[in-house]
Order: sequence, then structure tokens, then C-alpha cells
Amino acid sequence: MFETLTRVPDDPILGISAAFKRDTTPLKVDLGVGVYKDDRGNTPVPAAVRRAESEVLAAQSTKTYLTPVGNPGFNAQMLELVAGTDQAGRKGDWAAGQAPGGSGALRLGAELLRLSSPGSKIHVSDPTWANHTPLLSSAGFQLERYPYYSAIRHAVEFDQMMAHLEALPAAAVVLLHACCHNPTGQDLSMTQWEAVADVCARRGLLPYVDIAYQGLGDDLERDAASIRLLARQVPEMLVAVSCSKNFGLYRERTGLLLALTSSNERAGIAAGQLGRLARTIWSMPPDHGAAIVDRVLSQPELRRSWTEELAAMAKRINDLRRLLADALSARTGGTDFSWITRQRGMFSRLDLTPAMVDTLREKHHVYCAPDGRVNIAGISASNVEHVATSIAAVMGYA
Ligand SMILES: Cc1ncc(COP(=O)(O)O)c(C=O)c1O
Repeated sequence: MFETLTRVPDDPILGISAAFKRDTTPLKVDLGVGVYKDDRGNTPVPAAVRRAESEVLAAQSTKTYLTPVGNPGFNAQMLELVAGTDQAGRKGDWAAGQAPGGSGALRLGAELLRLSSPGSKIHVSDPTWANHTPLLSSAGFQLERYPYYSAIRHAVEFDQMMAHLEALPAAAVVLLHACCHNPTGQDLSMTQWEAVADVCARRGLLPYVDIAYQGLGDDLERDAASIRLLARQVPEMLVAVSCSKNFGLYRERTGLLLALTSSNERAGIAAGQLGRLARTIWSMPPDHGAAIVDRVLSQPELRRSWTEELAAMAKRINDLRRLLADALSARTGGTDFSWITRQRGMFSRLDLTPAMVDTLREKHHVYCAPDGRVNIAGISASNVEHVATSIAAVMGYA
């Protein structure tokens, strides 16, 4: 029976990680994989997360099942972290379902949409995170792209994006990145978010917001401001949340799907459906990461420590943006790279052809994604010279 299976092509990003591991040159730099790294190239577990983890294990007397929608403490804490305390008046209107990571949340949201609006299309930014396409289309959705990023201006193609949204039929779903757009790092301004909220409200479009980097752009509040603004303007929306990067819980698969509905009663119905859908996919989400997050957010001392460590991570990335932009400018005869400093989160996309990306890897041992996406957190004071000189060389500046 299995002879009908065909071989899966290598995942381009995972292929880069494997090639990086095989490379024995001390000069090598990994700017490919999308995980946060500190100055020594390690992906740390925040101190508060470590402490919460040992406290959770010490206090845990059973590992019996929780519920299909997960850990209620985690869901309540995360709703407040993402939607804000000023959502109190609307809190009864939100339904929450814990999921295995942001990816699980995206899939759970797509399954809910399949029930509620099966004929709708999901519109994603051009470009978007590579995994959005398989995650959403395998739930049966057709995807379309809306114009988003101009690689020439290094800015959002806002007029074209708005023209696309204005032409959509009611009930179309629009996938938006709340902050730290992956792969470009180019976010909407708050004025632009207001216009997006307005067109969604006027035309009855459903915003589906992906937030995977809260706290790694500007700060916890500003990175979620887009979601809070939308929640004030539209009657319904979905939010897929990942705790992988900001809590350093990657392999613990910790995420959440939030559905804003138009009434308390509808929220209860949606929560029931989220539980039923979870039962048909993974039955119950894994609890370990969620219990840790619940503890970090509910214990003031742990919360303070985590918030400070997250702020230091965001500052480090933003400082590295300046360092890289200056180093590239110095090696390319003063070319303007200041757009890198205006972008946010772990990623920016450099103007590199696939051939340049290959040369960067093979000749200079600098590894980035095939589309020129670089993980800024992979840069450090000790490798920025080599990175900038190598990029300038492949761009033709000797
Ligand atoms: C934009 C975006 N959304 C969602 C995710 C999902 O992350 P995870 O499933 O690891 O929590 C990622 C991870 O890289 C991402 O970049």
C-alpha cells in the first residue's frame, strides 16, 4: 500500500540547518532558521520559564487529562496578554482553544472557518511565512495573495494592498501578521492598521491575525496594538498565538486560538466547537508549556523577570539591525540600508537572488533562506564584519 507514496522534497529551511551543521568552518554563520539566538549563538530558555518549569513539576500531583480546549488558566492569561485588559468589557465574547503551538492554532482556526464559512477564500500577504500555505490549504482552503511588500522601496505596498481588500466579497478571510512580519520584518503603521480595520468592518471581511513574536518587535503592548485596534472595530475575528519564540518554548508546542464573536452566547458556542474540533485532531493539547506560561504570567516576580528578559531580546535585535545596516552601508559605498532599522522582529529580506544565496553559503559560509530572508538574531558583534563583507561581495562590491 505504501508503494503509492511519493518522496517529499527537502524542506528548504531545514535543509539549510542540516548543511550548516555539516560545515566545519569556524567562520560559519547561521541566519537561516527562525529561532532567537543570543550573542553566543544559543537559543536560551528565559530564566523565569526555567523557574516556573521546576515549580510546576514540584507542585504537579497528577497528569490526568485537562480539557479539549486546554488549560483554563493559560487561556485566560494569554487572552489578557494578547487582547489587553481593556478588553474586559468584551471578554465574554472571546472563545479560546489551546493548541499545539502557533501552527496548531492556525490549523484549528482554519477548521473552525471550514465549519462556519466553507466557501470562503483566505487571503495572505505576498510574501508570507512559507508554512501558512500548507497549514491553511490542507484544511481545504483556497489561498490568494494580496500585495504587501515592495522589495524596491523596502516598504508596504499599502495602496495596492487596500485596493485588493476593497474588492473582496463579504466573509473573505484576511490573514494578517500582528507584528514582526515573517519574512520581511515590514509591519503596518498604526494609521495603516486603522484603514485595514475600517475596510474589514465596512466590507464584512474576517481578520485572521497571526501573532508569533509578541514582545520581540517593540514591546508586549505595542506588538499587540493591532489586535486591540481590530477588536474595537470589527464584530468578529480570529487570532492564532504562538508562545514558541517569546517564551522560548519551541518544542513544548504551546499556542492558542482566540475567536472574537459578536455575543457572549456565540462565544460559548464557538468554544464548544473548538473543543469538538480539537477532539477530532489531537484530542487534548499538551499541557507542559501551557502550565509554565500560566505560572510565569500569574506570578508577579516571574512575570517581571520574563518581561525584562524579553525586552532585552528585542533591544538586542534592534541594536543588531543598526549594526548590520551601518556595516553594509560602509562596505557598499554608502548604499542606504537604513530600511533594515525600520523593520521589526527577527527577520529582514535582503535583495539576494537564489544564486547569490548559494554563493554566500558555499563561498562565505553564511547561511540564509533561499528567498534572502535573514535571521537578524543570528548576527553578533563578533560575526557582523564577516556577514557584511560577504553580503557586499555577493552583491558585487569587491
Ligand atoms: C509567522 C509565524 N506564525 C506562526 C508560527 C508558528 O510557530 P509554532 O508553531 O512553532 O508555535 C511561526 C513560526 O515560525 C511564524 O513565523
